[in-house]
Amino acid sequence: MSDATAKTYPPSADMVARAHVNAQTYDKMYQASVTDTDGFWREQAQRIDWIKPFTQVRDVNFDLGSVSINWFADGELNVSANCIDRHLETRGDQTAIIWEPDSPEDAAKHISYRELHSATCRMANVLRDLGVTKGDRVIIYMPMIPEAAYAMLACARIGAIHSIVFAGFSPDALAARVNGCEAKVVITADEAPRGGKATPLKANADKALAQCDASVQCLVVRRTNGDVAWNEARDRDYNALAQDASDKCEPVAMGAEDPLFILYTSGSTGQPKGVVHTTGGYITYAALTHEVTFDYHYGDVYWCTADVGWVTGHSYIVYGPLANGATTLMFEGVPTYPDASRFWQVCEKHKVTQFYTAPTAIRALMGQGKEYVTKSDLSSLRILGTVGEPINPEAWNWYHEVVGHGRCPIVDTWWQTETGGHLMTPLPGAHDMKPGAAMKPFFGIKPVILDPTSGQEIDGNPAEGVLCIADSWPGQMRTIWGDHERFEKTYFADYPGYYFTGDGCKRDADGDYWITGRVDDVINVSGHRMGTAEVESALVAHSKVAEAAVVGYPHDIKGQGIYCYVTLMSGEEPSEDLRTELRNWVRQEIGPIASPDLIQWAPGLPKTRSGKIMRRILRKIAEDDFGALGDTSTLADPSVVDDLIDNRMNR
Ligand code: WTA
Repeated sequence: MSDATAKTYPPSADMVARAHVNAQTYDKMYQASVTDTDGFWREQAQRIDWIKPFTQVRDVNFDLGSVSINWFADGELNVSANCIDRHLETRGDQTAIIWEPDSPEDAAKHISYRELHSATCRMANVLRDLGVTKGDRVIIYMPMIPEAAYAMLACARIGAIHSIVFAGFSPDALAARVNGCEAKVVITADEAPRGGKATPLKANADKALAQCDASVQCLVVRRTNGDVAWNEARDRDYNALAQDASDKCEPVAMGAEDPLFILYTSGSTGQPKGVVHTTGGYITYAALTHEVTFDYHYGDVYWCTADVGWVTGHSYIVYGPLANGATTLMFEGVPTYPDASRFWQVCEKHKVTQFYTAPTAIRALMGQGKEYVTKSDLSSLRILGTVGEPINPEAWNWYHEVVGHGRCPIVDTWWQTETGGHLMTPLPGAHDMKPGAAMKPFFGIKPVILDPTSGQEIDGNPAEGVLCIADSWPGQMRTIWGDHERFEKTYFADYPGYYFTGDGCKRDADGDYWITGRVDDVINVSGHRMGTAEVESALVAHSKVAEAAVVGYPHDIKGQGIYCYVTLMSGEEPSEDLRTELRNWVRQEIGPIASPDLIQWAPGLPKTRSGKIMRRILRKIAEDDFGALGDTSTLADPSVVDDLIDNRMNR
């Protein structure tokens, strides 16, 4: 499947004609970006307003023991001014943020750049009055409401470093992050409505703050006006304070390498690590990738369905789009509330032109049937995007046909919290897409495929191995907060001289890239290396399968066997015959070496609240090692784990 013989989907002539980047300009710009890297980025950084222009472009060292990454280091700028102030003259009345609330019964809000400016300044002044100054850390634990964006931009305006904790995280996880970065203030809301239910954020914050230093203050935004406990010494009412605050606040000049934010993310080992992004390089990279990947043009309405609690929300709901003066849609709800047509109704209502979501959402909606999609008018859509995991060709085709009516290019963007922005993606007016391929490196990105054993680069096509990046780019993370040594060990130790992504990758005969999944998910069956994503893709290609997760487990003869957790389409009954049918299906789709050893019917899979399947848990269950399941507090529904344990195969 994942090779040069895959069916390709060229962009339409219209798309090519209007795109910022077509095939010729891509080739020219890419060449320039990797041959004269300094010159390329010096020019690209001019899209940013600098308070003090930089003279040095980059100063980078990937050598273990002295890793150091600097871009535009002697320049000064302010990210909030770049996202707001500089647009006021030309587009003050243009909508910056469209806010779509959880319930379709409630009114959407249109916030102009001028309104965004006042609201951000008020928030910045409130934070200043709480004693927050340049370099201080502020935790944001919020629903998807405009105040979350104001809070991010207010921090950037006064030079505070924000760290957003996804509203689905537990009080313990929140406390660990407050303590981890020694935050001065936690900004939260009374409650977070999502899918018709309200998460008691303030109550969670109360529990978290009981485990934190008494000096940490809590700023509470009223979202639902629900009842909350109040600690006079610690809690502050944002709405009351904002009313009295000035709506003018001068942006602080920040060094290009001053931290902009910390975002905690899970690694393959240990506690979550605080990924640090800085100011000048990050905003340059987020803005450029947003404009080019989504081919953003003036007047477009761009919607990324992520949450600001994840990096996608940082770069592609707030910073990238606003730096470009775009209209960005912020959605508080979930794809299936009140029913599975919600995404498409919102697209119709706000005439969305670019729509960016995760494969897991596409698969979930695909399982509900296409009637939910076809009843909405999706003619405004021009470009579709996916992010977060490999997309299987079936989901890709459904997205392309049913949602995009075959008209819209799909940008399958591969990147990571660590990378700040897209590193590989097809560009909508430049590349013939292949379902499931991340295709081409973005400007300035030098992907290399290494032999995992020897660490040597594999030249030529086709190639398969671990994916590293040979050189720095402006959006690259700079360190792990408080633990530079761990940063070096995690990303620069295994393959000296490269940034190690943790992903496996193939380059096909055409030289196009395909992400095969985390290398920690690669299994070795009878000496054959296999991507679990490949088996999953085969399983979900079966008409009776809604979702599948595949892990390795110890197998006496093969070394590792293939363990499949399968969720059937609603209405399908599990049976021994169906097991055989699926086994044969996979043998047929990939080959006999991929034949599933064990298939367990899984009514649900353990997922984080962001929709990522927690493979660590599935691997442990497959290994019959239930004592060591680890932290299950971040699961959307912890009860699915009990069911999987009870029904573990082959006991
Ligand atoms: C995976 C999300 C295949 C990959 C932006 C990566 C993908 C990890 C894709 C980072 C994609 C992300 N195709 N795999 N288009 N996008 N991934 O930090 O394994 O939450 O290393 O960042 O997601 O996840 P993170």
